[in-house]
Amino acid sequence: MIPEFLELVRRCNGNIVALTGAGISADSGIPTFRGKDGLWNKYRPEELATPQAFAKNPRLVWEWYAWRMEKVFSARPNPAHLALAIMERRGLLKAVITQNVDNLHERAGSRNVIHLHGRIDEMRCLGCGRIVKVAEPPKVVPPVCECGEMMRPNVVWFGEALPERELELAMSLCEENSVLVIGTSAVVYPAAYLPHHAKRNGNMVIEINPDVTPVTDIADLSVRERAGKFFEPLLPILEEEGFP
Ligand code: OAD
Repeated sequence: MIPEFLELVRRCNGNIVALTGAGISADSGIPTFRGKDGLWNKYRPEELATPQAFAKNPRLVWEWYAWRMEKVFSARPNPAHLALAIMERRGLLKAVITQNVDNLHERAGSRNVIHLHGRIDEMRCLGCGRIVKVAEPPKVVPPVCECGEMMRPNVVWFGEALPERELELAMSLCEENSVLVIGTSAVVYPAAYLPHHAKRNGNMVIEINPDVTPVTDIADLSVRERAGKFFEPLLPILEEEGFP
């Protein structure tokens, strides 16, 4: 599959974006949402990831996010994150559109990262709207802003709209570029529409996922492999002076 993948990357001539989901961070030890060991198998989203859940029990929601922050902050980027950063640096990839709230793309060196579902390393004040960057989980939950109001994780919860600017940017990138879809079950809309949008606009779709997804049918190349494992041998090739 490596030669086929590299050939498609060559053919795209820099006109590619990546769309990533929880699966790209699985090899860094961050649990995915769906599947056997997925978070939504153990926890109920409606109790932890909705505005209603937060209004009812902010402490419980914050404890869960503090636990997830801990996992993210102690995780390290894996070869899949690193490969995307190398590709961007070498002009082979325009942007990473991610559904992930972790910061592993940035920590791997990616610069143009579009977070469709917000970021776990930020919190937002419910009163004044101030956004505060965090490098470790808050010691006291729920944290309180300087203005006296409660802070919430700066992520998108079920039932909430995606950030408008990010979604518009993602849609327009998928109109003009091929899409490398990595580690998403591709069932949560509107993000799940992006590969279809790319395809309808005449672009290629490449998928890296150990499982079959709704994207598999429209993919020009579908690699049935864990992302970290697939990209590991590719790192030196993508770095090579001669490539592409
Ligand atoms: P999911 O948990 O739904 O799907 C993870 C995907 O990653 C599955 O298709 C797995 O087969 C695949 N996978 C697992 N291990 C992998 C590996 N090592 N390498 C590559 N792929 C692997 O995660 P998302 O599609 O990101 O939304 O979920 C989408 C949204 O649903 C999330 O952003 C979150 C969730 O509810 C919000 O929080 C709003």
